[in-house]
Amino acid sequence: MAKLALLLCFLILAVSGLANGSATEHKVGIFELKKGDISVNLTNWGATITSLVLPDKHGKPADVVLGYDSIKDYMNDKPYIGAIVGRVANRIGGAQFTLNGTLYKLIANEGKNTLHGGKIGFSDVVWKVARYHNKGPAPYIVFTYHSSDGEQGFPGDLQVTVSYTLIEDNQLSIKMKATALNKPTPVNLAQHTYWNIGGHNSGDILSNEIQIFGSHITLLDSDLIPTGKIASVKGTPYDFLKPHVIGSKMKKLSNGYDINYVLDGGLGDKLKPAAVVYDKKSGRVLELSTDAPGVQFYTSNSLKNVKGKGGFVYEPHAALCLETQGFPDAVNHPNFPSTIVSPGKPYRHQMLFKFSTKA
Ligand SMILES: *[C@@H]1O[C@H](CO)[C@@H](O)[C@H](O)[C@H]1NC(C)=O
Ligand SMILES: *[C@@H]1O[C@H](CO)[C@@H](O)[C@H](O)[C@H]1NC(C)=O
Repeated sequence: MAKLALLLCFLILAVSGLANGSATEHKVGIFELKKGDISVNLTNWGATITSLVLPDKHGKPADVVLGYDSIKDYMNDKPYIGAIVGRVANRIGGAQFTLNGTLYKLIANEGKNTLHGGKIGFSDVVWKVARYHNKGPAPYIVFTYHSSDGEQGFPGDLQVTVSYTLIEDNQLSIKMKATALNKPTPVNLAQHTYWNIGGHNSGDILSNEIQIFGSHITLLDSDLIPTGKIASVKGTPYDFLKPHVIGSKMKKLSNGYDINYVLDGGLGDKLKPAAVVYDKKSGRVLELSTDAPGVQFYTSNSLKNVKGKGGFVYEPHAALCLETQGFPDAVNHPNFPSTIVSPGKPYRHQMLFKFSTKA
């Protein structure tokens, strides 16, 4: 009898748990933030930016981020378009690392390595909409996600918060926070929007001018895994300390850019400039600053025949990504700034985008 009552109790709990969890608060939707000339749409699938509309130098608006027409396309997406990637963005060599004497084996999802958190990373889960306010001087949305101990092989429970806020003068602030609840764990979150400030359907970004405030890069092996060496950009096609047209320098590379820059301005939680992008034709300017130690510059080399918004097909170099983050594979390189987060000392990461136009 006691057994039966217990079973009944358990069943009721399980059913009510389902009802509160997946059905109501975790419904997937689109949320709009609008202020002045700028409007941003997001979905809680992957805490993703799905559109960002801005005027050009003549006042004509365009959507300047790649994306899809339906949420279902985001669920089947392979290039991580617009999403938050984690628990550890970028690559982890050999899909493993040792932390305090324990070897952790991760899910490999790019050859024998782990990319962007594994097979089901933070870009492939439903986030909770914790707060949403599309009014007032600073419209915002806050997404949260609880990552479980052992998820994709990572240690410990992790509570993650990402907020998107529109502030003065066409600025978008993105704040990421992650709290280790019981074990130390590597954390490295990145925002994976594909930018084409000429318009998502304007072709490619090769004529964009870019300036990147990093005088060093982390060198890679043929699998794109860091060797641990840090090299100067001086005299290489990676030197964007002064603004240059992307296509002019890219000719010297076989495939385009997919590299982490060590940002000048040092470590610490002060915002420092990361990059400036300028599209002459539309006159749009994107300025990015961050408190992260690095920025991955990616010229969407592997985009190929991706059917995007309005039926437009995205091909290689249709956009660029500026993923501020810790250094890739830092868990396996003691000379890189540590990405280990311990209980009691949360991870924080901010990106500040400033949009403008010039003639
Ligand atoms: C953004 O979302 C709103 C509300 O769902 C919708 O009306 C609008 O068309 C969307 N904007 C873009 C550019 O997709
Ligand atoms: C490493 O392990 C030791 C012994 O178990 C423990 O005292 C220490 O807190 C651990 N450090 C981290 C960063 O987990």
